[in-house]
Amino acid sequence: MPSWEFRPAKPDRAMIPPIRYCKRFRMEVDLRGDFSQDHSTADVDWWPWDDNLLDLHAEAKHLSFHEEMDAVLFPCFTTLDGCRHLMAAIRDRVNFCPEATWLAIGPHGIPVGTIQGIFDVKERYVGAIQNIGVVPEYRGNGIGAGLLRHALAGFRQARVRRVYLEVTAQNSNAIRLYRRFGFRCTKTIYKALEPAIPDQIGVGI
Ligand SMILES: CC(C)(COP(=O)(O)OP(=O)(O)OC[C@H]1O[C@@H](n2cnc3c(N)ncnc32)[C@H](O)[C@@H]1OP(=O)(O)O)[C@@H](O)C(=O)NCCC(=O)NCCS
Repeated sequence: MPSWEFRPAKPDRAMIPPIRYCKRFRMEVDLRGDFSQDHSTADVDWWPWDDNLLDLHAEAKHLSFHEEMDAVLFPCFTTLDGCRHLMAAIRDRVNFCPEATWLAIGPHGIPVGTIQGIFDVKERYVGAIQNIGVVPEYRGNGIGAGLLRHALAGFRQARVRRVYLEVTAQNSNAIRLYRRFGFRCTKTIYKALEPAIPDQIGVGI
């Protein structure tokens, strides 16, 4: 037994930023009833999932999320590359649900919205929406509703009976949209935000 032992230096409490939490809701809808009271239409094309569309989904995701509050929670939204990796990770999951994954294509063939779905790994007949995003300039035209309608119809086709998602409590636009489709809050979740790394430049160098 050595007369010394290595212990990591005691962190200076003043250096550790406090952990911050983000309030989120889990919302659920039962697909066995008439899930959509929303019949708004949008002047876009709806493209079902195809592997060749991965980059277009990533582009729509990046433009939709990079300046939103969720980008603080999920930093991969802040770069196009991060969104590509996220899309590839979703596509590669064994529980990926292509039927619930849709792209909205606007004028001149540009991607203006995306939604992706997966099956729950634990519960049969349950689906989860991953991300729904509409590019800011195209919002308020029924594209979000159209994406949701296509995804829920796809889940139904895949025999899913119940769908859930998570949304940041402050995201009132998204919550209003989900409520129109019959989603209801079932749980409140507090998700820790990754602490910002303190600026080390100049310290001990
Ligand atoms: C949430 C989000 C997807 C909604 O997309 P959207 O395309 O604006 O949604 P819709 O157009 O279908 O609905 C939005 C509003 O437009 C209205 N609208 C629907 N169709 C319309 C039409 N044809 N003309 C004018 N307005 C219309 C809706 O009534 C709705 O109004 P309300 O919010 O007062 O109820 C979008 O705001 C977004 O991408 N946000 C950032 C990413 C994000 O936070 N995603 C959710 C993560 S959980």
